[in-house]
Amino acid sequence: MNKIDRRTFVGAAAAVAAAETRAAETPVRVGMIGAGLRGSSLLRPLLDLPGVEVVAICDMDDNAAAKARKTCVDAGKPQPTIYASGPEDYRRLLDVEDLDGVIVATPWEWHATMAVAALEAGKAAAIEVPVATTVDECWQLVETAGRTGVSATMLENWVYRREPLAVLNIARAGLLGEIVYCESGYGHDVRGTKFDSRFADTGDLRWRGEHTVTRNGNLYPTHQFAPVAMLMDINHGTRIESLIAMGGVSQGMNQYAVDRWGPDHPNANRVYANSDRTNVLLQLEDGRTALNFHDTQSWHPRDDGHKYQGTKGMVRWPFPAAGSIWVQERHWDGKAVDARRWHSLNPFLDEFDHPIWKMYGERALQFGHNGADWMELRGWTESLRHGTPPPVSIVDAVTWSAIGPLSEESIIGKSKSVDMPDFSKGKWKTNSKFELRWQWG
Ligand SMILES: NC(=O)c1ccc[n+]([C@@H]2O[C@H](COP(=O)([O-])OP(=O)(O)OC[C@H]3O[C@@H](n4cnc5c(N)ncnc54)[C@H](O)[C@@H]3O)[C@@H](O)[C@H]2O)c1
Repeated sequence: MNKIDRRTFVGAAAAVAAAETRAAETPVRVGMIGAGLRGSSLLRPLLDLPGVEVVAICDMDDNAAAKARKTCVDAGKPQPTIYASGPEDYRRLLDVEDLDGVIVATPWEWHATMAVAALEAGKAAAIEVPVATTVDECWQLVETAGRTGVSATMLENWVYRREPLAVLNIARAGLLGEIVYCESGYGHDVRGTKFDSRFADTGDLRWRGEHTVTRNGNLYPTHQFAPVAMLMDINHGTRIESLIAMGGVSQGMNQYAVDRWGPDHPNANRVYANSDRTNVLLQLEDGRTALNFHDTQSWHPRDDGHKYQGTKGMVRWPFPAAGSIWVQERHWDGKAVDARRWHSLNPFLDEFDHPIWKMYGERALQFGHNGADWMELRGWTESLRHGTPPPVSIVDAVTWSAIGPLSEESIIGKSKSVDMPDFSKGKWKTNSKFELRWQWG
């Protein structure tokens, strides 16, 4: 699905080499807070980037911190300074270290607090998804970034995947007409990460499981909403005005526990607030609608169900299965009564690839999430290097993240309509369309 045409890549080799040399001449100093599953998977692509120095790592689990340090040394890089003296030690890292930016890859409840502290310390923050779990935290991030003038962004790797960027180009070329409706969601059974079951098998609730016990809503909206927000120009010409959310039964966590540890285990009998399926309907200011769902605790293969409907065509991408497309201009002869068959999206990916995929696709694909991890870190570190705004603004980051807490509020109110705050403070009217700028190197 993600194979890159080698000829295209080779054609760009000289430009890539020049960009790499320029980047290596201007080092970017980065710190990392949280070196668990995600932090350690980000470390590999980070260490591959030209001119990026990982100088400090903080994790309250000293095993995780030591493992991350070993990863740096094994990659032939200098040993980073470790901060592992408890949950507040990240503040010492922010005080002591001379950094251009810091990655926050801790559990959700820490994101906003840590990022605000980073901004106050003059360090740019790249925050894992979602950036916040309450609307108050969203505002704190926007206000602190605005007051300090230090950049904050969300490490939303779905912005950088090959398919969403190519589909955005397809849409911008007019092949889909006006985008009128989109749907997608996180259809990923991640119960293994909610319990301590992957490594120790104690069955203890992990931080993600705690959120599942206490919160009923779309807890993880941003991965699948990012491509939709880009396509629908959210905060870039329109905005989300309101949403309604509907939850439902919650039996998947209990069933999993019964199957895994037996009916008498505490996990089998606990009450889990989070619904097995949550549907969120978003109303845009211009009348269009979108659906974003959350389904992380049922037995099913991964299916994120992307559908993007335009006035002249449609794209369907049931990730991780390959995508398909139908566009009037290419697939209809103007006569046939029913010529609406799906066509493979793959030739369109080749035709409409974003330049970063043409130039760096092959290298990025060596790293996680189909290359998107390398791409997002390259995009962020280049913005630090050039002093340009990060590709995902903090306003976009909090808008996508706020779907979580607002969906909780809607469900508590029996699916009442809840207003989305205008985090852009009116700038959505004049902001230019979302664009992943070509500024690397
Ligand atoms: N973008 C993606 O594709 C992707 C994939 C997985 C996870 N994530 C996100 O990454 C984040 C981390 O998830 P994870 O799976 O790595 O979790 P994890 O539990 O494996 O790792 C979290 C780490 O943070 C450390 N930590 C917790 N509180 C801390 C504190 N106060 N100070 C220092 N360290 C602290 C823990 O010791 C742990 O090592 C989450 O926000 C998650 O949503 C994103």
